[in-house]
Amino acid sequence: MSTVGKVIKCKAAVTYGFKKPFVMEEIEVAPPKAREVRVKVCASGICHTDDHALSGGMASLNFPVILGHEGAGIVESVGEGVFKVQPGDHVVLLCSPMCWQCKACLHPESNFCEKNDVGKNVGLMLDKTTRFSCKGKMIHNFMSTSTFTEYTVVDEFAICRIDKAAPLDQVCLVGCGFSTGYGTVINTAKVKPGSSCVVFGLGGIGMSAVMACKVSGAKQIIGVDINSTKFPKAKELGCTECVNSKDHSKPIHEVITEMTDGGADYGFECIGNCEVMASMIQSTNYAYGSANIIGVPPFKDRITMDAMWLLTGRKVQGAFLGDYKASQQFPQIIDDVLAGKINLDALVSYRLPLDQVNEGFDLMRHGKTVRTVLLMGCEKSASCK
Ligand code: APR
Ligand code: ZN
Repeated sequence: MSTVGKVIKCKAAVTYGFKKPFVMEEIEVAPPKAREVRVKVCASGICHTDDHALSGGMASLNFPVILGHEGAGIVESVGEGVFKVQPGDHVVLLCSPMCWQCKACLHPESNFCEKNDVGKNVGLMLDKTTRFSCKGKMIHNFMSTSTFTEYTVVDEFAICRIDKAAPLDQVCLVGCGFSTGYGTVINTAKVKPGSSCVVFGLGGIGMSAVMACKVSGAKQIIGVDINSTKFPKAKELGCTECVNSKDHSKPIHEVITEMTDGGADYGFECIGNCEVMASMIQSTNYAYGSANIIGVPPFKDRITMDAMWLLTGRKVQGAFLGDYKASQQFPQIIDDVLAGKINLDALVSYRLPLDQVNEGFDLMRHGKTVRTVLLMGCEKSASCK
């Protein structure tokens, strides 16, 4: 029986307050309004940014809310005036969507659309309402997507159609973690062959950065973490050396400066810790280093730095979602995945059903995963391993 135009009842992981566990609920998902798309979510990665929001590290978060922002699925129905996709199309959801009308979208070097909800977390569609409810109460969405649910409704600008051959339980990572780490290396830092790189934090984002450093032909790729169990995977993906900051009594930037004979050409911070950001900047070569900030810190934290770190010639920059103009550039990433040039499967440590979302977060908090992917039980995600 067709669900088009009807309310869909489905399972979702709802969050009712800061630091509270997810509660599996039966929710109601209203049909898409004009310029909106209802998507059957098949797979969603668990990203540290979800936990960051949950722990109160972002400026605001309105409850109740359905978190998750790294998803892929299949279009169930579309609202009036949607031409970009049709029912049955496979899509990656865009946590940093692009309207292609604002100054940022039209700027050749920006992807940070003025209409995105990143950090603001208002949790509403562009028309200031949401399509989710539970027991008669409205539920907010998250980062224009909300993926810890079997169905979601997004504004048309938060969607990218992809090749149907792409495995949804892997390409969901393109929606955030993979693109964030990989793109900052390729698009922002533009790492050159033969160079030296240091990547702080070897989670889903850091590992993706390591993969990109390798693809770029970097000669030396140093991975830094406080959890040595991350090192074998990091070496498999491209690290030439790994360093545990806890094993050293002197500041980690001094260790990296020695290892790279004067400082790395490129540094990447993939944790969201302002103190580590300062170490990362100092780990790059004082005269020509390129220091790149990727991790999202708690909103009140600040980087403390000496202006001399920059006056000597270093550059510090940051990027969101790897500087990809997502709706335009993600299909190329998917093509590279299908061509075997990018191995996303290497980043997936666990696949769990949606109702084990709390276990998935525990695995991440205890440093046991690169990425956990939640599967929503549709046959497409189960068969696309
Ligand atoms: N020094 C070195 N490594 C650290 C430190 C530290 N002080 N603190 C944490 N780490 C390591 C953890 O051990 C872990 O391996 O950083 C890694 C973070 O990985 P994940 O928890 O998987 O996080 P990820 O999803 O990759 O996100 C990282 O990017 O988008 C942001 O909000 C996100 O800020 C978060 C960051
Ligand atoms: Zn825009």
